[in-house]
Amino acid sequence: MRRKVMAGNWKMNMLPNEAIKFIGDLTPLVKDSKPEVIICAPFTDLFYTLLSCQDTNIHVGAQNMHWKESGAYTGEISAEMLKVINVEYVIIGHSERRQYFNETDETVNLKVKSALKNGLKPIVCVGETLEQKEAGKTIEVITSQTAKALEGLTIEDLNNTIIAYEPIWAIGTGKTATSEDANESIKEIRKEVLNKFGTDDITILYGGSVKKENAKELFTTSDIDGGLVGGASLDADTFSKIVNYDL
Ligand code: 13P
Repeated sequence: MRRKVMAGNWKMNMLPNEAIKFIGDLTPLVKDSKPEVIICAPFTDLFYTLLSCQDTNIHVGAQNMHWKESGAYTGEISAEMLKVINVEYVIIGHSERRQYFNETDETVNLKVKSALKNGLKPIVCVGETLEQKEAGKTIEVITSQTAKALEGLTIEDLNNTIIAYEPIWAIGTGKTATSEDANESIKEIRKEVLNKFGTDDITILYGGSVKKENAKELFTTSDIDGGLVGGASLDADTFSKIVNYDL
């Protein structure tokens, strides 16, 4: 279902005491905000973040999970392990995981299906490299990643799934896609979902150097439903200004 969502991805940042302070600072700043607010925390912060978010309108997500239910996978975390402590969302297939940890479209699809089966809502990341962009392959890459990530899902699954379009060249570089380009790419992703599922009623976020200065321009376009925010989600005041971009 299409709705406004602003998600923070803390990546490998924030110690538990910092997470608790952040949530305490953010809570009053977003208590009346229209977009749904999600914080995706490192595993070791999840429990503290969940406790701090009780009785607030802030939702909590993880940044990764394994697709297997359980077993001899040292160092991994299953969907059920996240679900039982009340984690609601999980980022799947972030480009940093594809790039540094060899995640593929196939493992992304396995993870998406396992997340949904266990009652977690996946935030599925797609995006092109600079090389692919310069070769004019953006649309081909992102529609193919989308189709593969969502393979085997039902329409009901789509209601519980968020897509994040994150051009890799824009992540952490200070280079943001123009709102027109980001909107056009997201339109193409929406078209791909329509082709495959007969509906394009799905929330699609933009990520890549979102800042308080560019939030309004990005999030008032026709097809961008919100943001997946990295660096600018590490400061409660800054992140709240992105969440409240329309105030
Ligand atoms: P930045 O906002 O730091 O560019 O990171 C974007 C991102 O990767 C969010 O998942």
